[in-house]
Amino acid sequence: MAHVVGVVNQKGGVGKTTTAVNVAAALCAAELRVLLVDCDAQGNATTGLGGDKMAEQNHLYDLMMGACRWDQAAKRVVPGLSLIPSTPHLSGVEVELATLDGWENRLKEALAPAQDVFDVILLDSPPSLGMVTVNILAAAHRVLVPLQCEFYALEGLSQLWRTLQMTRKRINPDLEVLGIVLTMFESRHDLNRQVADEVRKHFGELVCDAVIPRDIRMGESPSFARPVLWYGSETVGSKAYLKLGNELMARLGLHSF
Ligand SMILES: Nc1ncnc2c1ncn2[C@@H]1O[C@H](COP(=O)(O)OP(=O)(O)OP(=O)(O)O)[C@@H](O)[C@H]1O
Ligand SMILES: [Mg+2]
Repeated sequence: MAHVVGVVNQKGGVGKTTTAVNVAAALCAAELRVLLVDCDAQGNATTGLGGDKMAEQNHLYDLMMGACRWDQAAKRVVPGLSLIPSTPHLSGVEVELATLDGWENRLKEALAPAQDVFDVILLDSPPSLGMVTVNILAAAHRVLVPLQCEFYALEGLSQLWRTLQMTRKRINPDLEVLGIVLTMFESRHDLNRQVADEVRKHFGELVCDAVIPRDIRMGESPSFARPVLWYGSETVGSKAYLKLGNELMARLGLHSF
């Protein structure tokens, strides 16, 4: 049974997609079978992992609408890593979901058969707490929360925590937090350090030891979240995501073969 992990934070531009694709690449490098599901109409994870061509047909919108099966939507990126791509079509999905009974479980039901095929299923979420994100929280066993150590980071987290509590009460009682990962961290930045200290004080062991530093290579092509590992394992970004991948594997009770 796959571990289903939602990468969530309703705040935009905090490193969700970068984290989802780089953790996917790190877990794949550890020889786990990984499925990344791009649940954002912006399609940044899709672009990062091989371009929009993949998304011409059978993408996440079709899957959520029941127009195709997961294995028709999933494309192999490299051995051990598959992607269910997204397209701008997905931006209309909420209006259509609203008319359906059990709308919050569409993603969970569509992905259920994929759980036998993968070790980890990562869900990259949009920057909102809308119906797609509710579907992610319903489908996930755990959430990984990328957090940028900026002003209002903690306020954003308390809103997310309230949503998680509500999700547990109403939809998914077993939903757990896999970890909070500090992203785009600059140690010489006072505010970054202060916020990181506060987050660690509040959330203790939920905060991952691995911290993702700001790395120019990851910001080089905005919205093209290519795994930095694909450029080699020596950059600070690659090393940080490999460390995070190992830490998450330990937290999930997984080891590589
Ligand atoms: N560690 C990093 N160092 C430098 N730039 C980074 C890093 N992580 C992410 N970025 C850049 O920051 C921007 C936002 O990152 P990303 O797209 O991963 O965030 P997001 O939370 O998925 O955004 P959205 O909410 O729009 O989906 C991108 O241009 C990305 O390339
Ligand atoms: Mg994103």
